[in-house]
Order: sequence, then structure tokens, then C-alpha cells
Amino acid sequence: MSGLQIGADGRLRHLLTIDGLGKPLLTAILDRAESFAGRERKKVPLLHGRTVVNLFFEASTRTRTTFEIAAKRLSADVINLQVAASSTSKGETLLDTLKTMEAMGTDLFVVRHEASGAAHFFAERAAPGAASLKAGTGRPGHPRKGLLDRFTFRRHRGADFAKLKVAIVGDVLHSRVARSDIHALRTLGCRDIRVVAPRTLVPVGIERMGVAVHHDFDTGLENVDVVILLRLQKERMVGAFLPSTAEFHRDFGLTRARLAKLRRDLLVMHPGPINRGVEIEGEVAYGSQSLILEQVEHGIAVRMAVMAEILGEPRRLDDGPMSSPASSGTRTTGTVPGIGTRAGSRPKRRRGVR
Ligand code: CP
Repeated sequence: MSGLQIGADGRLRHLLTIDGLGKPLLTAILDRAESFAGRERKKVPLLHGRTVVNLFFEASTRTRTTFEIAAKRLSADVINLQVAASSTSKGETLLDTLKTMEAMGTDLFVVRHEASGAAHFFAERAAPGAASLKAGTGRPGHPRKGLLDRFTFRRHRGADFAKLKVAIVGDVLHSRVARSDIHALRTLGCRDIRVVAPRTLVPVGIERMGVAVHHDFDTGLENVDVVILLRLQKERMVGAFLPSTAEFHRDFGLTRARLAKLRRDLLVMHPGPINRGVEIEGEVAYGSQSLILEQVEHGIAVRMAVMAEILGEPRRLDDGPMSSPASSGTRTTGTVPGIGTRAGSRPKRRRGVR
């Protein structure tokens, strides 16, 4: 995988999974995101002349729109292919869609698809210099969410992940976010990661990822710093995984009553969209301990950082942080290297269908 994601020059070429990306690269992306988040003038010319295509074969609110905003803030041209109204409905294959969009000069494909391998498919078949970024495919992962959640942690709890205790609660089995969160947390040094869910919603063997599994909410959340709630993904449940959503809410839902018994400084996260009254009560979702809307806001800076990392001016990983990192937990106005310079030095594309 790293051969596909990371080029011979050590540079990120595609973002398909967090698994295998080292701590220096993850930290560099988070530092770069910090420099974007802290800017007063939001738009930068880093990707001027580049073309980003959003290819969303599944529904999305947050991911699609924040990718669009992020690409526009980097001055890229953005195309949102309306898949339902595209030639996909006439039977055009994924490969033919890729080659067609490539012929129009696409530099970066942002891919959401029900098939787990769709973003890899694009990465393997795209012309040299064109990149693929997974925006949630199949079940295994949502790498950019893993980064964004870590960015949000850092802003609140600093960069020392070794001290953090994190609980991931809910439908881990069907979640794209859970695995990316676990990979990112482990890579950044977190050692106390708990998965809290009914037996039917825990993937077999998840302990091998270095997490502790709990089937009781109260013991699972004892003394944790952060709880990440996951949506009950009814659309992906092919069997009878639960007796009822009411029962799930009773045993695993975060209510105001439950929150009051936990640490007063507990931070509440959720990748969205939320199921109100199922995994989380509406009042908790928008309460003072919730970071849910911050996660949405930070999605823009993190997406800018990832796109700049892939398409922007080459940068050595030992260049150091680009602005004061969030380890202090404070917002800063950072500088963004590469502004005013020619964006990117990618190899010339070779066109043709493989
Ligand atoms: N969390 C997430 O991916 O949200 P969307 O489905 O709205 O993009």
C-alpha cells in the first residue's frame, strides 16, 4: 500500500488509508492544517490551475461540501460530477469515467463509492501525476476523517496522544471512520483505545488493532478523555444486528443523564450524520462538551492540508511545522509555504486507457 500511496521521493501521492503512514507524515499534515485553520485570509493560490473532481457515488453532506470549499480555498478549479445525472446511469464503467475526466485534465479525484476498492482502482489506473483521495468507500476506511478527528483532539488536548484515553462507541462493524480513527490514534501514540458496542456490532479480531473491547457502556467509558460516537448504519445492516434501536439507545446511547455521570471535561465527538435519539441525544450533540460542529469546520483545513500535501509544492518531512502547531491548543495565524510559487512539480501525464 505504501508503494501506491507514497512515491519514491517519500511524498504522499494518494490518500487511501492511514494504515502505514508514519507519525512524521501525519504530524506534518496536521501542522499544515493548523496553518490553514489559523489564516485570516482564507484563500491561497497554492493549487491555482489545478482541477479537482468530486466523484460521489454515495450520498454526502459534510465530505463533499468541505472538499469543495477546501479546493476552492486553495484556488483549484472544482467539478462536482452529478453521478445520478451522469453517463454512469447509461452504463459507463468506473474506468471509462476515470479516463473521461482525466482527458479533461483532472489532477485529483475525490472518490466516495460503495465498493471498498474504488479509490485504489483510481490510484492504480490514473495517469502519472493524477491523484486519488478516498472520501469513504466500502466499509474499511475514511482516512481523512481519521486525520480530522486527530486535528480536533490536538486543538483541545495538545499533541501528546500517549496520555489520551479514547472510547469509540456504537456501530463499529459498519463504520468507515472507526478503523481510520484507530490507525491514526495508534500511529500518533495513543495506547488506551476502547471499542464499546454490542457484540453484534464489533468486528471479529478488532483487538488485533490494539484496542480493548467493552460491551458495557459504563465500564467502557470510565475515565476517558474523549468519546467518539458512531452512527448506527441502518442502511448497511443486512441482518438482524440488534433487537431494536430503542434497546441500542437504552444501552449505548449518550444521553444528558449518562453524560452527567462521566468526567466533566469529557469531549464528545461524532463524524456525522447523527441519529438523534439513537446513539446521541440532540441536546448532547449540540451541548457544551460537543465538538461535532468543530469537526465539520476543521474538515476544511484538513482537506486543504491533504490536497496541498499531494498536489502542492514539494516539501520535505523534516522541514518542521509550518506554524505554531496546536500542541499549545491555541489558534495561530500561520504561513503557508508555496504561496506565490508554481504549484506542484508533478510528472507530465501520459494519457491512455490501461
Ligand atoms: N461523516 C461523513 O462522512 O459525513 P457525510 O456522509 O455527510 O459526508
